[in-house]
Amino acid sequence: MSVAVYPGSFDPITCGHLDIIKRCLLLYDKVIVGVLCNSAKKPMFEADERVELIKKALGDAKNCEIKAFDGLLVDFVRQEKADVIVRGLRAITDFEYEFQMALLNKKLCPEVETLFMVTSTDYSYVSSSIVKELASLGGDFSRLVPDEILEDIKLKITEGR
Ligand code: PNS
Repeated sequence: MSVAVYPGSFDPITCGHLDIIKRCLLLYDKVIVGVLCNSAKKPMFEADERVELIKKALGDAKNCEIKAFDGLLVDFVRQEKADVIVRGLRAITDFEYEFQMALLNKKLCPEVETLFMVTSTDYSYVSSSIVKELASLGGDFSRLVPDEILEDIKLKITEGR
């Protein structure tokens, strides 16, 4: 059985992330979305909230599990008995960091491959940071995130004020 881990901060999940998850589900028997708990950045949503938002956005997608993880990605990948780490590439600017991370992960865990999936052109400019900035400044971010989580983001912004 082929198992892929799609890791990230997902603070919050965007339409670009969702597109990658759905395309991964066509390629692998099981996809585990790994939500990093202790990101260096102060997140807008706690890890358990981010997990719930992804579940809400995905609906009842079969063969997909959403799990929070802490520590090294390769340890999580081993624990889940996955073969592949999937990362989305939006632009050439993503490449340097992603390349470094893939090489490091390969050194730490030679049996696991990193697969880069090119983001659909519709979402190549979308990031969680852009969503948060737009949301906090009152801009329209409705086409950047799944409909199911729009209200959760609006509520979080209101609570923070
Ligand atoms: O969505 P992001 O913030 O770009 O995801 C980055 C992530 C979570 C994939 C990366 O920071 C990560 O794997 N963190 C876990 C710690 C780790 O394994 N670090 C070594 C590789 S850089």
